[in-house]
Amino acid sequence: MTAPRTNIVLVGFMGSGKSSIGKHVARMLRFQFVDTDALIVERSGLPIAQIFALHGEAHFRDLETNVLESCGMFSRSVLATGGGVVLRESNRTLLRELGFVVQLTASEETIYERVSRNQKRPLLHTADPRATVREMLAARQALYDAAAQFTVDTTRLDHRGAAEVIIAEARKEFGW
Ligand code: S3P
Repeated sequence: MTAPRTNIVLVGFMGSGKSSIGKHVARMLRFQFVDTDALIVERSGLPIAQIFALHGEAHFRDLETNVLESCGMFSRSVLATGGGVVLRESNRTLLRELGFVVQLTASEETIYERVSRNQKRPLLHTADPRATVREMLAARQALYDAAAQFTVDTTRLDHRGAAEVIIAEARKEFGW
């Protein structure tokens, strides 16, 4: 078996802390921080909500897979992914090839409170976003579990605390 690439790949539901905690991990390890949603926005020239509104979710998922396929050039990086990246089995395989896959979780209330802070997530623009969060979490949990090699519950951790847990596990994984 080939050694895993020295990347830490963060997966998890919207609002689980992938970007904010990922930035801390990257800073503490002196790794590069890469946000796959930001790469999608950069490449398409459109904000995520506009991609969904103009071209639909299926097109967004294709862009997401394209971006993931292009991440093979990264090493010593923390890759924060979009919450729906685990939906495609081929993406889940790619994630493992990219590095050590860590799932971030949080309680439903915490997720709801975090995602309510802005309107950037088109899938939550529903009549009852709280129910949408609950249903999507239930539908996706098994996929995050299937994708991840390690899980951190961020409900009661600050960014630094969560980053320390991730780094301790990455050290074991990479044999540092
Ligand atoms: C999505 C999550 C978002 C973004 C898009 C779709 C999802 O990323 O990729 O709105 O399907 O869960 P975050 O998890 O960073 O919010």
